Amino acid sequence: MLAAGATGSIGETGTGCGVGLAWMIAARRPGVRVVSVERDEQRAHVVAALFADLPDVEILHGDWTRIQERGPFDLLVTDGGGNGKSTPPADPELLLNPCGTIVIDDFTPMTQWPPVIAGEPDLARLGWLEHPALRCTEVRLAPDLSTIIGTRRP
Ligand SMILES: C[S@@+](CC[C@H](N)C(=O)[O-])C[C@H]1O[C@@H](n2cnc3c(N)ncnc32)[C@H](O)[C@@H]1O
Repeated sequence: MLAAGATGSIGETGTGCGVGLAWMIAARRPGVRVVSVERDEQRAHVVAALFADLPDVEILHGDWTRIQERGPFDLLVTDGGGNGKSTPPADPELLLNPCGTIVIDDFTPMTQWPPVIAGEPDLARLGWLEHPALRCTEVRLAPDLSTIIGTRRP
């Protein structure tokens, strides 16, 4: 759904086996370029071969920070690096167009404020929800799963 709204380019960190990528490719508007980065070499090469017929789809092999080589994006999905949980957070001012969207997936739904994880302040979640360059919201997708969606301030 978010891919269908992008008018510039779309970026993804963490290609995996290309499932989310395939959904975004299927939903994008004509002319929208899609770039995904994957650190696992075999996965990167297999998915690149899978989408080899699509000239405006590119799979980069390497750390998620390589996505900076292709930004800024209208939509950036962080599904393998850049989420502020196990890696530093992506910089929206560097990676997003003004009013561009960032998705940070795989949170457990927030049940209190300020949010905590394992009894400690949930700094990754807070970092996004209170990011000065973004307007963010948390969307619950399942009882045990939520995602944060942010829009870069103009
Ligand atoms: C949850 S899977 C991605 C699933 C995929 N986006 C999908 O929708 O099917 C996470 C992927 O991110 C990759 N990954 C993890 N850390 C990474 C990093 N620092 N840089 C690039 N890729 C990374 C992993 O190798 C793994 O393939």
